Amino acid sequence: MMDYVQVLVIMLPNIALSVWLVSLLAHVHSVDVALPPKCTKSFSRGSAHKWTNWAGNWFADPEQIFCPRSLNDLITIVNHAATQKKKIRTTGASHSWSSACVVNNDGFLVATGGLNKIFDPFKIKTGGGGSDGPWAVEVQSGVVLKDLDTFLQRHDPPLTMPSNVGTIFATYGGILSMGCHGASLSTRTISDLVIEMKLVDAKGTLRTFSKEKDPAEFAAAVVNLGLLGIIYSYTIRVDPMFKLLMVDSYPLASEYFGDPSIGGPKLRDIVLGNYMTSVIYRPFSGDRLDYSDDRLWLKRWNRTDRALSHSLVPQCLQTSLQDGLGSFSTCLGQHMAAHPSSTRPVLHVVHTIMGTSSESVLRAPNAIHFTGGSETLVHLDMGFSFKTDRDFANVVQASKYAIDLMYEYAHQGVFPLNIALNLRFVKSSAMIMSHVYDEDPEAIYCMIELLSFKGTPGFDEFSTTVAQYWMKNFGAR
Ligand SMILES: *[C@@H]1O[C@H](CO)[C@@H](O)[C@H](O)[C@H]1NC(C)=O
Repeated sequence: MMDYVQVLVIMLPNIALSVWLVSLLAHVHSVDVALPPKCTKSFSRGSAHKWTNWAGNWFADPEQIFCPRSLNDLITIVNHAATQKKKIRTTGASHSWSSACVVNNDGFLVATGGLNKIFDPFKIKTGGGGSDGPWAVEVQSGVVLKDLDTFLQRHDPPLTMPSNVGTIFATYGGILSMGCHGASLSTRTISDLVIEMKLVDAKGTLRTFSKEKDPAEFAAAVVNLGLLGIIYSYTIRVDPMFKLLMVDSYPLASEYFGDPSIGGPKLRDIVLGNYMTSVIYRPFSGDRLDYSDDRLWLKRWNRTDRALSHSLVPQCLQTSLQDGLGSFSTCLGQHMAAHPSSTRPVLHVVHTIMGTSSESVLRAPNAIHFTGGSETLVHLDMGFSFKTDRDFANVVQASKYAIDLMYEYAHQGVFPLNIALNLRFVKSSAMIMSHVYDEDPEAIYCMIELLSFKGTPGFDEFSTTVAQYWMKNFGAR
């Protein structure tokens, strides 16, 4: 007995010390847990604000910006925000044109760039005979498009996204949660390629939504506009690598935007007859102060087995050329913003130089991201989507309204549109919060957008007037 007491007496200070140490460690540990990873990069893009989007037309001053690198980090951040009673917004590559990432001192911004793991592609098991189905790949939400392109191209066998958005710098978390669309009629929006997603909800719990297990819940979760939690990963259906024949032509805009009963069906036949189509109206490309000799840049893509085209420009030079072209265009944009009356002559010359018909055969990702790797051309963009009517007459009317208004402005010395009016088409989305959701799976939606260089005088007023017309007359959203 004595021995025990003695031992206890000797041990007591040690036990106390250990308890103290353990609690200290736990304390240190809990401080660790409560402190999500610090960001090593800045999101201010040279502005006075803590965060701005890529174009610099949205900014915010969140209480703190977090840069998670793992699922545990996400859970830690959510718990931390819950105890601090803070909102959470997320940002990927900050390419969004909407206010989705904006949160100020009542919240935290979570930048997903460190969640950049791509898991091994696998074949989807189809039911029945257990035969292998199409390929799929799981990507964390911060994976950038160009990195998945490279990864899939190096896979054996080489794989590719069947369709995609133009830029290669956005993240999958961003484009899939917002319902981005690409230009292919056969694949619907990019979000419709998703088969499973995982997110951390407001309780800090990882939730999985699967197309197979619960299609209704899944359709509500995939395009979530950031409302359901922090997205951890998406699993996307991908295709074996394929080639696309890309054909550029420059018809007169009046061939399509004249009489809606003639131009509409012509447009519809092109859209239905190609794997992808992009119709780009080039403002002030003609010689006069009306649209009669303005040109369209009509881009069409079909799958092909033809041999790849040889580029005259070595691969290593292409990126710098694209960047150079981006800076050159930005310089032209600044010049036009400062001297609006130069808009028409400048654009006429540019379009005359660039308007040569051509065709080439490219691997799918290169053909889809034809605008290439330039991030330097900073522009403003206002985009809407609406359901096309059977003969596409409303597509012609929507475009013609914007062009006519643009020339009304021009007659008063204001040139609000100086890059493009762009039309692309996809079939409706099954995702409930998608801008092109429709119960009719065969409905074709037109994605219409106005693009001008940043700083172009009159763009805000012009694009707002056009938006109101599109919303009122075509139910655009
Ligand atoms: C794609 O194929 C369709 C049907 O064969 C054809 O009408 C169309 O012109 C083709 N497009 C291109 C870009 O070659």
